[in-house]
Amino acid sequence: MKIHVFSEEKAAVLAADRYVELLKRKPNAVLGFATGSTPLQLYRELIRRYKLGELSFNQATSFNLDEYVGLDGSSPQSYRYFMNKNLFEQIDIPLERTFVPCGKNCSEKSTVEYDAKIQVSGGIDIQLLGVGRNGHIGFNEPGTSFDSLTHRVQLSRSTREANARFFRSLDEVPFEAVSMGIKTVMNARSILLFAQGEEKAEVIQKAIYGPVTEEVPASILQLHPFVELFLDPEAAKLL
Ligand code: F6R
Repeated sequence: MKIHVFSEEKAAVLAADRYVELLKRKPNAVLGFATGSTPLQLYRELIRRYKLGELSFNQATSFNLDEYVGLDGSSPQSYRYFMNKNLFEQIDIPLERTFVPCGKNCSEKSTVEYDAKIQVSGGIDIQLLGVGRNGHIGFNEPGTSFDSLTHRVQLSRSTREANARFFRSLDEVPFEAVSMGIKTVMNARSILLFAQGEEKAEVIQKAIYGPVTEEVPASILQLHPFVELFLDPEAAKLL
């Protein structure tokens, strides 16, 4: 694991360089994206670089980590909506090549098909991750099998509480989501994990130095050959 400790702004600039390099070398790269607060600065930086003409996504394909069960793209709280607003509508990626797990009116096979689509696309080149305070990656809560593929998950109370800020009240936060599995994430050729703020410090310490255990899903990243962590000084303060 390579660990970088920088301000959020500097981390976004450095991580955006990875995308510029990748898309120059492989214009049809496959990108794994995340939602939540963590990646917003990176998305702003990718948009800025795109507008400067430093990179184009017009041959790229993307797969998002997760989606809430019961929400479709017309709902402002859905992750599809989040991605369209915060990234896709501001760059040149063809929307039909941006994939987010199905949250509403899904076929029974939609989770299996999601993994199949990733494989057919050639596999994910860069998977972006945030981390939950309980160690979740994607919405793989503690206890999820390291062998999991895309699947339906029950959200823990702490995750629902952490995400309630995007809804009018806690009651409105869905109880379930569809998430790429841990194996799906680990199959990515490289992984960039971002964490900011003191509230992530404990889980970052456990993920990096603790035992590799399903109780801390992010700890599996110790076994991936190409992981870079971009931490701000608060998230890194227990290292
Ligand atoms: C989001 C995701 C989650 C978040 C995590 C951190 O697609 O899969 O694992 O990365 O919950 O959320 P924030 O960034 O809001 O602190």
